[in-house]
Amino acid sequence: MIKIKSSEITLEHIYRSRRKFIASAGTITATSLLLGACGGSSAASVEPNEPLTVSSETDELGDDLTSYEAITTYNNFYEFSTDKEEVAPLSREFRTDPWTVEVGGLVRNPQTFDMDDLRQNFTEEERIYRLRCVEAWSMVIPWQGISLASLLKAVEPTSEAKYVRFETLYDPEQMPGQRNDWYQWPYIEGLRLDEAMHDLTILATGIYGQPLLPQNGAPVRLVVPWKYGFKSIKSIVKIDLVEEMPTSLWMAAAANEYGFYANVNPDVPHPRWSQADERRIGELSRRPTLPFNGYAEEVAALYADMDLTRFF
Ligand code: MTE
Repeated sequence: MIKIKSSEITLEHIYRSRRKFIASAGTITATSLLLGACGGSSAASVEPNEPLTVSSETDELGDDLTSYEAITTYNNFYEFSTDKEEVAPLSREFRTDPWTVEVGGLVRNPQTFDMDDLRQNFTEEERIYRLRCVEAWSMVIPWQGISLASLLKAVEPTSEAKYVRFETLYDPEQMPGQRNDWYQWPYIEGLRLDEAMHDLTILATGIYGQPLLPQNGAPVRLVVPWKYGFKSIKSIVKIDLVEEMPTSLWMAAAANEYGFYANVNPDVPHPRWSQADERRIGELSRRPTLPFNGYAEEVAALYADMDLTRFF
C-alpha cells in the first residue's frame, strides 16, 4: 500500500505543476492543477486526518489518479449548490451519523442497514475508476466500497424485480438546494437489475482510504464507472427493487438530454455539446472519450441487442 501523509500534501504547485504525484521512498506528495471551470479561484485546502492510502498511482490504463484536493473541492451535488466550488463549504455540517439505508421493494428479505452493518456484513475493497461527467470533464478516483451485487443478493430479489431505484436523503433544512423547485426532489436514479448486479458497480464509502466527505456523497453513494457521473447518486437512504423503469430526477427534468441508460458514448452528442472528448481535471489538453468510459470489454455485452443511439 502507498501511504500519503496529510502533511505531505502540498498545494504549492496548484495552477503551476502538471504532475499530481511525485513518488519518493514509499510516500507520495500530492499536488494538483485545477483549471477550466475551476480556474482562477483558489479552492480551500482539504486536509484529511489520516494518511491517504492507495494501492496504485494510476488506473489500469496508466492514467494518474486525480488529487484528493480536486476530488473533494470540485463537486456536483445540487442539493447543496449548483456551483461546484460551493458544495464543499456548504455541506461541511451535513449530518451523516446516524444513517440508515432501507433496502426493499420486490425482495424476500427487506433490510435496513446502518453504516456499521454495511461495513461488517460486506467486504470493503478499493476500486480505482474513471468518473466521466456528462458535462465532459473527468477524474480518476480511488474509491473504497462494497459490491452492490452482494448487498442485493442479501435481500433476495424476487423474479418480478427488473430494476433498482435509488433515493438520496430529502432534508431541505440541511440541503439548501432542495428548497428550490427547479428539480423534483429527492434525487432519484435507477439501474437495470443486470447493471446493478455487475461486478463493476459499487456502493462507495470512501476515497483514498478516507471516509467519504459530504461533498462526495457521504456516507454512501453509488458508483457506476461506465455511465455518466449523474447516475452515481450520492447520500443514499433508500434502495428499492422494482418492476418498472424508474424515472430519475434528470429524466423528469429533461428526458431528451439525460436518458435512463446514460452510458458514456463519444458517438452520441449531448443535444447541446459534443461527448467526443473530455477535460481530465488536472490536465491541460483534452483527451478523447472512450466508449463506456474505457470499460467496454466488461460491459458492452449488457447492451448487445440495443440501439445505443436510441437508448442513450
Ligand atoms: N447525486 C445527488 N444526490 N445529487 C447530485 O447533484 N450529481 C451527480 C452525481 N451524483 C449529484 C449526484 C453528478 S452530475 C456527478 S458528475 C457526480 O455525482 C459527481 O460526483 P463527485 O462530486 O463526487 O465527483
